[in-house]
Amino acid sequence: MPVHGGRVRVWTARMEFAEVVRRRHMVRDYDPDRPVPAELRERLLEHAIRAPSAGFSQGWAFLVLEEPDDRARFWAATSDGPPDAWLSRMRRAPLLIVPLSHKAAYLERYAEADKGWTDRDETRWPVPYWDIDTGMAALLMLLTAVDEGLAACFFGIPPERIPGFREAFGVPGPYTPIGCVSVGYAGTEDKRSPSLARGRRGVDEVVHRGRW
Ligand SMILES: Cc1cc2nc3c(=O)[nH]c(=O)nc-3n(C[C@H](O)[C@H](O)[C@H](O)COP(=O)(O)O)c2cc1C
Repeated sequence: MPVHGGRVRVWTARMEFAEVVRRRHMVRDYDPDRPVPAELRERLLEHAIRAPSAGFSQGWAFLVLEEPDDRARFWAATSDGPPDAWLSRMRRAPLLIVPLSHKAAYLERYAEADKGWTDRDETRWPVPYWDIDTGMAALLMLLTAVDEGLAACFFGIPPERIPGFREAFGVPGPYTPIGCVSVGYAGTEDKRSPSLARGRRGVDEVVHRGRW
């Protein structure tokens, strides 16, 4: 049995990776009486930081909200008015993880000698790598949740709510929430997104082989 850092690791048979990918879908209702075990919460976060990052910048941060007051503060800051059906179900999630991207970390990293973009000119970036990398970290959490029998949903924070969110949690200006991942055990009233009626675009529709 392999031993890591003095701990005996018991290898458990988890799902095949392909099955994890196939099974992953956003879940928007949670059992409010089943918290996420601490060990699984930490695994989500440990896997998140395995995400790739440009220049190994790792310009990300994760705000973890579990206490009922903290979660209530999140929902109060990011929504208004009486909760609609979506919000009523989402509010039951016992764990919220807000991935935040840190653009300045990339500008600083790429100004280092081995990269040499000392002007920190943002036009050098073909796309915002800080958001991409943080999104990849979020996807690893979504996949880990499936692997661990948990349910999760990535959802957006309305832009006009971001200042209030920062204020509520003391988030420094250089960090931008890219959304939020709700996590828990699935509830019984989950509603799939109506967007799914669009159907999944097939490989032949989206792939261009050899040339466009
Ligand atoms: C960037 C992003 C933002 C999303 N925002 C929301 C959201 O605000 N609310 C929501 O219920 N789902 C949101 N979703 C989930 C999508 O609706 C969902 O991924 C899509 O319909 C496909 O369904 P599936 O992930 O269950 O396969 C978001 C997904 C992504 C990737």
